[in-house]
Amino acid sequence: MSEERKPIFKPNREFAKNARIKNMCEYQELVDWAKEDYEGFWGHWAKEKINWFEPFTQVLDESNAPFYKWFVGGKLNVSYQCIDRHLEVRKNKAAIIFEGDRGDKQIITYLELYRNVSRFANLLKNRFGIKKGDRVVLYMPMIPEAAYAMLACARLGAIHSVVFGGFSAEALRDRIIDAEAKLVITADGAYRKGKPYMLKPVVDIALEEGCDTVEKVLVVQRNHEDITWIERRDYSYNELIDLEADTCEPEVMDSEDPLFLLYTSGSTGKPKGVQHAQAGYILWAQMTMEWVFDVKENDTYWCTADIGWITGHTYIVYGPLAMGATTVMFEGVPTYPDAGRAWKMVEEYKINQFYTAPTAIRVLHKTGEHEPEKYDLSSLKVLGTVGEPIDPPAWKWYYEKIGGGRCAIVDTWWQTETGGHMVSPLPGATPIKPACATFPLPGIMAEVIERDGTPVEPGEQGLLCITKPWPSMIRTIWGDPERFKKSYFGDAKKDGKPVYFSGDGAIIDEDGYITITGRVDDVINVSGHRMGTAEIEAAIKKHPHVAEVAVVGKPDDIKGESVFAYVVLKDVEDSFGEEAELAKEINQVISKEIGNIAKCDTIKVVPGLPKTRSGKIMRRILRAIAKGEEIKQDISTLEDPSIVAKIQSCVIG
Ligand code: WTA
Repeated sequence: MSEERKPIFKPNREFAKNARIKNMCEYQELVDWAKEDYEGFWGHWAKEKINWFEPFTQVLDESNAPFYKWFVGGKLNVSYQCIDRHLEVRKNKAAIIFEGDRGDKQIITYLELYRNVSRFANLLKNRFGIKKGDRVVLYMPMIPEAAYAMLACARLGAIHSVVFGGFSAEALRDRIIDAEAKLVITADGAYRKGKPYMLKPVVDIALEEGCDTVEKVLVVQRNHEDITWIERRDYSYNELIDLEADTCEPEVMDSEDPLFLLYTSGSTGKPKGVQHAQAGYILWAQMTMEWVFDVKENDTYWCTADIGWITGHTYIVYGPLAMGATTVMFEGVPTYPDAGRAWKMVEEYKINQFYTAPTAIRVLHKTGEHEPEKYDLSSLKVLGTVGEPIDPPAWKWYYEKIGGGRCAIVDTWWQTETGGHMVSPLPGATPIKPACATFPLPGIMAEVIERDGTPVEPGEQGLLCITKPWPSMIRTIWGDPERFKKSYFGDAKKDGKPVYFSGDGAIIDEDGYITITGRVDDVINVSGHRMGTAEIEAAIKKHPHVAEVAVVGKPDDIKGESVFAYVVLKDVEDSFGEEAELAKEINQVISKEIGNIAKCDTIKVVPGLPKTRSGKIMRRILRAIAKGEEIKQDISTLEDPSIVAKIQSCVIG
């Protein structure tokens, strides 16, 4: 065993001296405190960190589990927490540093942020009648107005639902309809790799059908390309915003009022509107910024995510602003104009904490191995990764070439549903094993267990569960509480009580370190983007020649996983030999139904799928075939065992 042990990287001593959590003893004290007095622990932090309008009267209400309530009776406003409360001491501090794709820059101070968000909120309220509880869909590029829009919704108590700009019109439409949105906020488009791209035309298509609740569309003009304006529906932000007053009273919100929805893929059915609440979410967003990134007053912090994903919500907008940090927002891609772009920005802004996805690290490593050497990266203190398992070579390059062997790498495991980090090293305390998320954060009861709650043996894979509710957890699935219960509290139990199951598998080693092994359900992770195979299959089935389809993830050196589809055609005879053409068509259908991010890398026409006698597709076999592995499972339970060899021969060609 011991010779297999991974090397351990101790925290940088100089860094640790000033870190918020300085060593494992301090970490353990916090962990023990939470274990002994769970409510006392959380109540303490909630009182200390949040500027309450009215105090809460109960820390945790478990009476209607798993619909937990946190900080019951408390009143607050998240935009106040992120902006107003900083004005006294930080009004001239940069809140957002924006860098455009083509190198244009903007620095927005906390005072300017206050004014911009207030005007935005007034516009929403006065022109569009947006009020507490209304749903507003954002389909936005990475520009400061996206953050203003989110915070303006929070200021009014409206519930935003940001839809990633890479999703198609159909996907956008589904989300608008499910949330019954009243307003859509978008932009004409933005810039990518030096060229304009468009968003508004996608909104136009989305709104062609079924979006009866949408009254108006607000358009931020970013690239000023021509777009269609529909009279009395579409309004220009640029023309209207200066007419609004630059102060706006924040709405008094209850701790448990919804803050936002964010749609994410599950293992079955359509995407789920993950609903987050006000107080618990903002508390943990702020605390994890402080603990995990250890951002200091004069630091500049950069997370490269898109605001269309949870990472962008918690770690570009809400977390950094709640703690009063300076957050960098970047419109472009780190490989344009070359693979040194990100490192050039690190040098220019003297970035102290840098947070990105393993896919980006792999791409930058592969396409610009020596780029980091051209820049001064000495400002960096903490490096983070998120979204997918990082592999040891990428970890090593990140650690040595970007971090100079000096910076801790925080491999943060969490999900849309968890709101913030759950399992992660602490940069001043945790001895790190490469490519390992290490330990649960204090207050987070993450455990690797069997379905019945028994802890797994060291080295064995188990289910990564969170066995107690935590403040920033998902509250429900929008409009579908039953699905919420079934999706998250239906698989695992501890002491007879249902516990939150993440969908991920993990291994815990003899030192208690947790390594995430990836999803054990039918969710795949392509470049850190989470996708349900069921969703992609539903899209593929819309192709008129497809009778049956099964989608699996195939390991990929750069993207982590790629999408691999097995299709059975309605009329096999006719369509054989045209696989390339068919694949192109199928990918067009996927682009239309979901977006380019879900396109298949491989599409194989096969004579049938491996099914059990009860009709269940044995995906494990399909995954093994996609990987080119030998089939070790027992295939005698299949309805037609001979199908396996036939599929294999189709795949091998
Ligand atoms: C995966 C992104 C390994 C995991 C914040 C999870 C990770 C899914 C890590 C959530 C990590 C996230 N190591 N895998 N450090 N972080 N994942 O909802 O499979 O987009 O369930 O949230 O990403 O993806 P989501």
